[in-house]
Amino acid sequence: MGVHYVAQASEIAEGQSKIVDVEGRSIGIYRIGDEYFAIHNRCPHEGAQLCKGLVCGTTLPSNVYEYEFGRKGELVRCPWHGWEFEIKTGKSLFSDKVRTRSYKVQVDEGRIGIVL
Ligand code: FES
Repeated sequence: MGVHYVAQASEIAEGQSKIVDVEGRSIGIYRIGDEYFAIHNRCPHEGAQLCKGLVCGTTLPSNVYEYEFGRKGELVRCPWHGWEFEIKTGKSLFSDKVRTRSYKVQVDEGRIGIVL
């Protein structure tokens, strides 16, 4: 296990992302607030490049005829069929059993590292 430095923190603005390759794996790095998160750039459904999908939010549980939007900027929507995943964890929104891999991110002196 080691840290692979792949980007400068200053390269990724709040709400933005960057796709990098680490030891043959395509990984998307996202900045949410002042934190960085990394997920595998592969959708578990049919293998689309998940991290090329739209960063979005979703409708929250609410009463009938009420639509409450939330979690803006915390989810990524697969560009092929629209499955949505939490950027912070890699979990899908619709099942505890469906997820894409997430990676630990370490920031040292302005450099973003992926821990593999
Ligand atoms: S390939 Fe991602 S939802 Fe189908």
